[in-house]
Amino acid sequence: MKIGIIGSGYVGLVTGVCFAHLGHRVICVDNDVKKIAMLKKNHVPIYEPGLEEMIRENVAAKRLSFTTRISQAVSQSEVLFICVNTPPKENGEADLSFVETVSKEIALHLKEYRLIVEKSTVPVQTGEWVEKTIRNYQPRRALFDVASNPEFLREGSAIQDFLKPDRVIIGVSNSKSEKILRKLYGPLKAPILVTDIKSAEIIKHAANSFLATKISFINMVARICDAVGADVEKVAQGMGLDPRIGPSFLKAGIGFGGFCFPKDLSAFLKRAEKLGVGFELLSSVLAINEQQKQYFVQKIENHLWNLNHKTLAILGLSFKPDTDDMRFAPSIDIIKALEREGVHIRAYDPQAMKKAKSIFPKIEFTANPYAAMKNADALVIVTEWDEFSNLDWKKVKRLLKHPIVFDGRNQLNQAEMKKLGFQYHGIGRPR
Ligand code: UDX
Repeated sequence: MKIGIIGSGYVGLVTGVCFAHLGHRVICVDNDVKKIAMLKKNHVPIYEPGLEEMIRENVAAKRLSFTTRISQAVSQSEVLFICVNTPPKENGEADLSFVETVSKEIALHLKEYRLIVEKSTVPVQTGEWVEKTIRNYQPRRALFDVASNPEFLREGSAIQDFLKPDRVIIGVSNSKSEKILRKLYGPLKAPILVTDIKSAEIIKHAANSFLATKISFINMVARICDAVGADVEKVAQGMGLDPRIGPSFLKAGIGFGGFCFPKDLSAFLKRAEKLGVGFELLSSVLAINEQQKQYFVQKIENHLWNLNHKTLAILGLSFKPDTDDMRFAPSIDIIKALEREGVHIRAYDPQAMKKAKSIFPKIEFTANPYAAMKNADALVIVTEWDEFSNLDWKKVKRLLKHPIVFDGRNQLNQAEMKKLGFQYHGIGRPR
């Protein structure tokens, strides 16, 4: 099939490349001239494992191309995916102005039937607005349908998530749209759930909010564990063995970050409020997540006493491992709070240091984890990159001024750390 992807950011690029990989012919659009020029040279503006190679392969096979012109995508493609940013406004609501602009542009170029699919995460009833906008702005009265097909891609495993999804959600208003989307996703052989458009829109916000709720829930349980000397890892294991609960997203730590959870939760909450539904549970989930970062800073302070003029070695800055994404990373609030206390910070991250430099002008970045530790008062793990599990701990002990580790992600084996002579402080783990 011929597909147009409008918005070649994270979601758009991964979606476009994966559809091309499935054999469809894809044209990716973006109004960022520099980005399109880069992509035309097979350079990828984001770090996502496997993406660059896949782009190269599909461009060479002539299944994938890039343009800055929406008109080209509209005239060439049977299906158009809206993948533009829906960033948070100051009050937490989703800013849908890019969705509106793109809808108007599609309308202007519409000459024959097209299926227009919202892929970006949008609040419920956005589909109705997209339809109204296209109807109002199209000069030629061409036929079209709108559908919702939310993405569930996780950064770092986005390609796998696309090609082997747990489910594909298709929100449609008629069988014609359903047929087109079923054909498009056919090669994946994944379970497909067909709903109306509004339900599909809600599924995305509800799923992310529920996962975030699990995280805040276990983080509160971790605080109880800390208070009595119990082990949250065991508690989560015991809870997760109940198939009604399940083991995933029960990892206690310093809270969730990234461009999806905080933003989607706030947007869902705001949308609910506008609909007259007070969803206080979600306000608490967000509040717990904010506190969790301060809880970690407090833990460091409780064990190091005065933080002024102390040096901390921080490992990991990105919001989670295997990405260079710093958006809403817990490291930001944690480091800023430590800096306010007068801490000198030396930090290392395998991928995110380039992006982190503009966020933290005062901290010292090091070329490897060991260089961050030299003479530091303690070691602090903020993001659980694999390479931190396999550090040479004898060397670490020699380098640190004191063998103290604050593990914000419960990444390390507590018993082993103690055996090696470290003072180990996880989240919700017995001392
Ligand atoms: C998420 C959703 O998983 C994905 O389906 C959606 O499309 C986009 O949002 P992503 O933001 O890439 O994906 O990351 P994810 O792996 O879900 O982690 C989100 C945050 O939660 C990270 O900061 C992570 O460290 C944290 N987290 C996750 C925990 O603190 N504990 C957990 O048990 C799981």
